[in-house]
Amino acid sequence: MSPLHVTRTLPEDATDAALRADVLNGLTDSPKWLPPKWFYDARGSELFDEITELPEYYPTRAEREILVARSGEIAAASGARTLIELGSGSSEKTRYLIDALPLAAYVPVDVSESALTQAGQALVAERPDLDVHALIADFTAPLALPATPGPRLVAFLGGTIGNLLPAERTGFLTSVRSLLAPGDGLLLGTDLVKDERVLVRAYDDAAGVTAAFNKNVLAVVDRELGADFDPDAFDHVALWDAEREWIEMRLRSRTAQTVKVPALNLAVDFAAGEDLRTEVSAKFRKEGVTAELAAVGLDLTHWWTDAEGRFALSLSVAR
Ligand code: SAH
Ligand code: AVI
Repeated sequence: MSPLHVTRTLPEDATDAALRADVLNGLTDSPKWLPPKWFYDARGSELFDEITELPEYYPTRAEREILVARSGEIAAASGARTLIELGSGSSEKTRYLIDALPLAAYVPVDVSESALTQAGQALVAERPDLDVHALIADFTAPLALPATPGPRLVAFLGGTIGNLLPAERTGFLTSVRSLLAPGDGLLLGTDLVKDERVLVRAYDDAAGVTAAFNKNVLAVVDRELGADFDPDAFDHVALWDAEREWIEMRLRSRTAQTVKVPALNLAVDFAAGEDLRTEVSAKFRKEGVTAELAAVGLDLTHWWTDAEGRFALSLSVAR
């Protein structure tokens, strides 16, 4: 069996410095916010995997349906020998692509070390012929990729692109394009605009798993920065912003309270009912995706949806 290569592109203290900067910036801003990448410690990654199995959370099933039906076409169109997956998590749905593509190497990239190593170890055991180079890295920062054979296909599945704010998205797509040579591809999963009730239910499930996932970011800040957030002092909120066409997840303070963050020498006042925005999950339309890709030099060649038209997978090619 070939070994799993794991590379941490950021030293651990850089992660710590990034968390400090984000918490300081987000909690002293008005309205308050935290970036969603801090959900995903080992517990947060487990909770996300539970979310993907909830009856209300359709995106994972819809995207799997597309991958089952279309991986052969994707393989024929891309012929990729290296698959780079951003925000790979459990790599569960990626198996359909890995089985279909003529791959020499798979490069999963994630901030969650636990998710990466679990997925990577399972994969090297199953596919001893495949080079698996796992990168613990922030996909919004420049990536140093291993020297593996082309053509390259970058996959960004699950609709995670929707968790970037519009300005972040443009910078992100520009840097993805810089990883590609002409003819290389991007396979992008985007959740689509749909009925508000369906969307809100997907982010506010009856079993409360999404609420626990949302509140997990407070546990991360407590553990890493010694803060005294009490998760029970906040309510989980999921709202549809019809103008921006995105779901916002927030944590709403139940009472007036002061939270201390000793590592930052910070005391943060929350008014009763004040919201902390923890995630945006943008929903897309074909015209918007096509235009955003074209703007960075990626031409959309394929657009596939599930039978119910809830989720899309697009393939675009670098000019
Ligand atoms: N692609 C999987 C997982 C989606 S969950 C799926 O479709 O089911 C989002 C994943 O992106 C998580 O594993 C999380 O750890 C990772 N992630 C979120 N923000 C990130 C960032 N800035 N850099 C790298 N990984 C990130
Ligand atoms: C990872 N990402 C695409 C998920 C989403 O749907 O925006 C994260 C999530 N947040 C709440 N539930 C799932």
